[in-house]
Amino acid sequence: MGSRIKMFSCFPYFSEGVVVKGFGRGSKELGIPTANYPENVVEHLPKEVEGGVYFGWANVDNGPVHKMVMSIGYNPYYHNKMKTMETHIMHDFKKDFYGSMLKTVMLGYVRPMLDFKSLDELIEAIQSDIKEADKQLEKPEFKQYQNDSFFFSNEQRSR
Ligand SMILES: Cc1cc2nc3c(=O)[nH]c(=O)nc-3n(C[C@H](O)[C@H](O)[C@H](O)COP(=O)(O)O)c2cc1C
Repeated sequence: MGSRIKMFSCFPYFSEGVVVKGFGRGSKELGIPTANYPENVVEHLPKEVEGGVYFGWANVDNGPVHKMVMSIGYNPYYHNKMKTMETHIMHDFKKDFYGSMLKTVMLGYVRPMLDFKSLDELIEAIQSDIKEADKQLEKPEFKQYQNDSFFFSNEQRSR
């Protein structure tokens, strides 16, 4: 669906930070656990990256690089002024990884944040986001970032 492709001049956008606890609204119970970035990572996000769903690659503590979908939203606890970046890594991790180093590269946009009437609708939407990300990331222009040295080095890449 080419018509909904949105371009961002800041992509590929690299982020790294320590995983912090989310607000526990239950993404894990939905079977879609998310890893949250701390404020100091979120505040660097360029303005053009608005609330919405994005896709790219992620790894934890310089480990294997997996596909990810990221939900960028506004945090109600900060009167919706502060963004949140919640990454769902498309891999079955056996343990939580709070306190670990999460690296992500954002490559594309999927859709805006929506207000769902039920949890079932939210789950369905996220499953469709995951399918879309899975497909997009097979394209050579996106797949190449799976092997980016950013994921395997201890050097900070600041933007
Ligand atoms: C890929 C993805 C897309 C999401 N899309 C929406 C959305 O459109 N609308 C919404 O209210 N929440 C959406 N969410 C859910 C929230 O961002 C969040 O994960 C959920 O509220 C649980 O957060 P918590 O467990 O960190 O508290 C999405 C989550 C993911 C992972």
